[in-house]
Amino acid sequence: MDPESWQQRWREGRTGFHLDRVNPNLAEFFPRLDPRAGEAVFVPLCGKSVDLEWLARRGHSVIGVEVSPIAVESFFTEQGRAPVHRSTGHCERWEDPPICIWCGDFFGLCAQDVTPARLFYDRAALIALPEELRARYAAKLAALLPDTARGLLITFEYPQEAMAGPPFSVSEAEVTALYEGAFAIRRLARRDVLGEHRRFQELGLDTLIESVYLLERGEHAGDSDRS
Ligand SMILES: C[S@@+](CC[C@H](N)C(=O)[O-])C[C@H]1O[C@@H](n2cnc3c(N)ncnc32)[C@H](O)[C@@H]1O
Repeated sequence: MDPESWQQRWREGRTGFHLDRVNPNLAEFFPRLDPRAGEAVFVPLCGKSVDLEWLARRGHSVIGVEVSPIAVESFFTEQGRAPVHRSTGHCERWEDPPICIWCGDFFGLCAQDVTPARLFYDRAALIALPEELRARYAAKLAALLPDTARGLLITFEYPQEAMAGPPFSVSEAEVTALYEGAFAIRRLARRDVLGEHRRFQELGLDTLIESVYLLERGEHAGDSDRS
């Protein structure tokens, strides 16, 4: 799906991916990033995720990017925030500290836009993209972040022929191929979550594996541990 199709989806309210509660994987695994007090977290393709607010309430500054103005405006309204927005040319910046969301195309960001984020959190971002865009996404994410970057990546795996994405199925082998040049990769969790997703059961899936990966750069990059 291209950015226009996503905007259309938001206009039509087809946002079944949105969770009204904090993603349990964020609460469980965020400490594995060894976050420093107050440090910034980059959240690509953030939608109107309440995870942004969860991070902010823990004292982190949050930098999101989201192409749909409906999603961005809804996020601030639903969280009772009053953002200031200004246009910067390539994107519109909506901000109510400590949360800033770039409303525009992820692929149009530059490293300065996500500075000083070292941490990142990818829930339903990589897997929102079709295969032909995923390598570009992974390379862009790596290029935006500094040498000390580390983050969480959450994926789904299921027989792709059983359902058209999004979300798309992304295997561990693909995660390795996409990121091993830039990050050490460690899988932190892997479980079948089909029972929690009635709409995927109704579409005929018989398995839906959710994995959580820790991606770490710097001295760890290159030595993947998929235990
Ligand atoms: C599956 S949703 C996930 C949203 C959020 N991460 C969550 O957990 O609820 C993917 C989001 O990415 C946005 N998106 C898709 N392509 C984008 C792009 N190129 N730049 C910025 N946002 C994009 C869509 O509008 C959509 O809100």
